[in-house]
Amino acid sequence: MTISTASPPTTAATAPAPPLRIGPHTIGTPVVLAPMAGITNRAFRRLCRQWGPDCLYVSEMITSRALVERSPETMRLIEHDAGESPRSIQLYGVDPATVRLAARLLVTEDRADHIDLNFGCPVPKVTRKGGGAALPWKTELFRGIVSAAVGEASARGIPVTVKMRIGIDEDHHTYLEAGRIAQQEGVAAVALHARTASQAYSGQADWSAIARLREVVTQVPVLGNGDIWSAADAVAMVRATGCDGVVVGRGCLGRPWLFADLTAAFAGSAHTTAPTLGEVARTLREHTEFLAEFYGDEGRACRDIRKHIAWYLKGFRAGSQIRHQLALVDDLAALDGLLANLDPDDPWPGDDAEGPRGRAGSPRRVALPEHWLDSRDLHPDQAAAVAHAELSVSGG
Ligand SMILES: Cc1cc2nc3c(=O)[nH]c(=O)nc-3n(C[C@H](O)[C@H](O)[C@H](O)COP(=O)(O)O)c2cc1C
Repeated sequence: MTISTASPPTTAATAPAPPLRIGPHTIGTPVVLAPMAGITNRAFRRLCRQWGPDCLYVSEMITSRALVERSPETMRLIEHDAGESPRSIQLYGVDPATVRLAARLLVTEDRADHIDLNFGCPVPKVTRKGGGAALPWKTELFRGIVSAAVGEASARGIPVTVKMRIGIDEDHHTYLEAGRIAQQEGVAAVALHARTASQAYSGQADWSAIARLREVVTQVPVLGNGDIWSAADAVAMVRATGCDGVVVGRGCLGRPWLFADLTAAFAGSAHTTAPTLGEVARTLREHTEFLAEFYGDEGRACRDIRKHIAWYLKGFRAGSQIRHQLALVDDLAALDGLLANLDPDDPWPGDDAEGPRGRAGSPRRVALPEHWLDSRDLHPDQAAAVAHAELSVSGG
């Protein structure tokens, strides 16, 4: 799709950047789509890839246990489009043996070209059992999981990366040690969401932590993540931290063309995309079509697109009634009828459509298993709790 572009007056927000190397893969634009549960399925990735074909697009998180058990939903989630390369899958796991089996399944059945491991989930029901962002506190368990995945995947030349947070809270940082361990165990890159679990998605990401990680992890690329809302933010993060690439999550919700801006900025061009409301509506329609194909079910696609409506329309003058109706849409004909009511010539709203979008939340005390913080070693009682941390996980 051709979309209007605008050239800002300065080029300060651009910086030609070298490609990103993830093991054997060369990612031309050093930009990664952040794994987002319920969002970064094959349909959304296809949509985004149209604007930034040289970025890396990670699947939504799948649990290693569900994969090993071949749950039908999980087997669908790990599918890629024929043209998707590298095929990237994020795994979540709490048990080295299960993660090993999951990685083995992916590589021996030729289902992935890259595996990312998720250690960032802040959801209470997960951290309460020692999973997610609580897990790297137990350094040898963390090492065991990373080592199991790398051991399996590297036998077939498939790189493994790690995505993590700064730590549990301000007093319990884990990222520097986890970065060191991950590097020792042979990961191909380390990504840092520069918040603690206690911050959830609130406040501001602390980019200075990315710079500190860069000083510790020197043999493989460090990827920075948190609060990139525009291509200028991405360039600013690289400049401020020295990171080798950026991971972009909420900034592209309802705005897949952000990958075109990111591609331009890292090629040294200041072009930004400024779609009219008509162009946005066509993108939303296309997203729904891709979802219908992905689910094989138009109704399910329409129910899924509902959560994207407010993001697509952010800043536009479309009234509350049409927004409300769109958020209840249940088939493509109804969607088309509603989209036809939007003024296609309404221009890009500028600042009103920029800035933060998506989940924010508020700071909280992190739920943890009893005595979790007393030691960096895993007590046998805690091992039993951790085994359950995979049963109720949902992104992070
Ligand atoms: C809806 C949603 C789902 C997420 N799911 C995952 C996930 O499955 N795996 C993961 O590692 N991070 C997940 N995250 C975290 C993002 O990957 C990213 O680290 C976070 O949003 C910060 O980046 P941002 O400021 O660019 O959004 C999720 C975030 C959101 C908003």
